[in-house]
Amino acid sequence: MERGGSFGAPLRCRLLLLAACWVVAAAGENILPPPSNLNYSFIQICTLNWTWNPPENISSSCDLKYSSDILIDEVSQHKNEWRKSLFRITDTVLNKEMRFKVRSECKSSNATDHSRWVETSVPPKGIPGTAAVGLSCVWHNLEYMLCKWRPGENASSDTNYTLYYWFDGLERHKECRNYSVSQGSFECAFNLTFPQAASGYPPISVLIRDDSEKIMPVCVTENPTTLVKPATPKIVKLSYVNNGIYLQWSESGTIPANCLSYEVKYHNGDLTTQTIQVEFNSASIPNVDPNSKYTFQVRAQPKVDCYSSKFCSEWSEEKSIGENPNPAFNLLLIITIPLIVTVSTIILLVYLKRLKILLLPPIPDPREILKRMFGEQNEDPQSCAKEDYMNGYDKLIKEEEIHSLILIETPESSNSEKEHR
Ligand SMILES: *[C@@H]1O[C@H](CO)[C@@H](O)[C@H](O)[C@H]1NC(C)=O
Ligand SMILES: *[C@@H]1O[C@H](CO)[C@@H](O)[C@H](O)[C@H]1NC(C)=O
Ligand SMILES: *[C@@H]1O[C@H](CO)[C@@H](O)[C@H](O)[C@H]1NC(C)=O
Ligand SMILES: *[C@@H]1O[C@H](CO)[C@@H](O)[C@H](O)[C@H]1NC(C)=O
Ligand SMILES: *[C@@H]1O[C@H](CO)[C@@H](O)[C@H](O)[C@H]1NC(C)=O
Ligand SMILES: *[C@@H]1O[C@H](CO)[C@@H](O)[C@H](O)[C@H]1NC(C)=O
Ligand SMILES: *[C@@H]1O[C@H](CO)[C@@H](O)[C@H](O)[C@H]1NC(C)=O
Repeated sequence: MERGGSFGAPLRCRLLLLAACWVVAAAGENILPPPSNLNYSFIQICTLNWTWNPPENISSSCDLKYSSDILIDEVSQHKNEWRKSLFRITDTVLNKEMRFKVRSECKSSNATDHSRWVETSVPPKGIPGTAAVGLSCVWHNLEYMLCKWRPGENASSDTNYTLYYWFDGLERHKECRNYSVSQGSFECAFNLTFPQAASGYPPISVLIRDDSEKIMPVCVTENPTTLVKPATPKIVKLSYVNNGIYLQWSESGTIPANCLSYEVKYHNGDLTTQTIQVEFNSASIPNVDPNSKYTFQVRAQPKVDCYSSKFCSEWSEEKSIGENPNPAFNLLLIITIPLIVTVSTIILLVYLKRLKILLLPPIPDPREILKRMFGEQNEDPQSCAKEDYMNGYDKLIKEEEIHSLILIETPESSNSEKEHR
């Protein structure tokens, strides 16, 4: 009994705990129903207001919040939010299925409980493959936005895409009117300026659609500071200062000076191009070669402190200082110098031949000398002294041969006798 009791107590306890858990779980489900009446409405061209009603019969101890998330084509956008309000504003893309899900979460006592998810979605409208593709916009010098796109592959060739844009501050969306089409690519530009004092810029939404229901609309919402492209600078001053070159170029006019840096590219004659980074709208190149031509180009880059944009301006027009040696004169030199050299070489060679004959009479052949030496050794011993020294070994060999010959033929006869024969 005791043993049984000692076993029975924990078992009962566990069973009780399990039951308690069941009760809590059941109670949790009861007190945490999901939000109801989830719905959405467009409040702007690319902006949705997702709305829902609170769950009913929430216990007063519950600190109720809503957790919501967005999925595009079933992929979570990792934009989970946990808030008390009964709506959520999000951007939309329109050419893909956008799903929104929300649940109630309750922080009562220590445990956090939540309901199941409720979902709704905005399905894409129109024929697949008709939406504009490759939509990209660039904000030129904080003055105008230029957007480009191509027609979808399934869109008919006469599709008339229309661009609408909106940002917080515009009462109603506007239509872009300045269209152009080139090489099957569409373009539209619209003015976009904000007061200089603006501390930040609102996100801008661009919608491209067609009046027909067949063409699928497409929406893009971007932070305009990521699209900033500075105006192309113009070199306004280029002069020699001391031993260097000083150059100055135009400023953006609309982008604050402290928000731009510059890149100066220059080359000198055929030398490789050099690039320097500059913080202001002027630069000095020290110690230049005064006898050669320098060519400069400048472009502006937005600074990361101000704009998270990767767009540099275009390179400015080239501007040069200094003179290259006259190219016509160069050409003349290139042609004439080798010509002169060739002609004078030929003349020189001819003259040399003659001079050689005049100045250096033919050098006697050593063999001739040898022959003569051995032939007339006693006649002219002085003149061959050198030859003798140089050919001493040869001479020795010859003498040996001669001696052996003498030995074989006439052992008694002398060297001189034989040679004289
Ligand atoms: C969503 O709201 C629209 C009006 O904005 C309404 O016509 C529609 O019935 C609502 N849908 C649901 C499921 O409540
Ligand atoms: C979104 O809809 C809710 C409910 O209709 C409303 O209270 C809220 O003001 C709307 N939000 C915006 C930004 O329009
Ligand atoms: C909320 O509670 C009331 C009374 O307590 C009950 O009549 C009603 O059915 C409950 N509603 C839900 C959705 O549970
Ligand atoms: C709740 O948390 C507090 C401290 O965090 C703890 O003392 C208390 O026992 C917890 N209550 C329950 C029911 O878990
Ligand atoms: C274009 O239409 C064809 C036929 O309806 C479809 O199979 C294809 O996926 C569409 N293209 C795109 C990019 O959706
Ligand atoms: C596009 O506009 C042109 C001229 O306005 C018109 O002729 C053409 O039918 C339009 N295309 C479509 C698909 O409506
Ligand atoms: C239209 O856009 C081009 C740039 O694409 C611009 O040069 C031209 O001034 C604009 N015209 C009007 C009327 O805005």
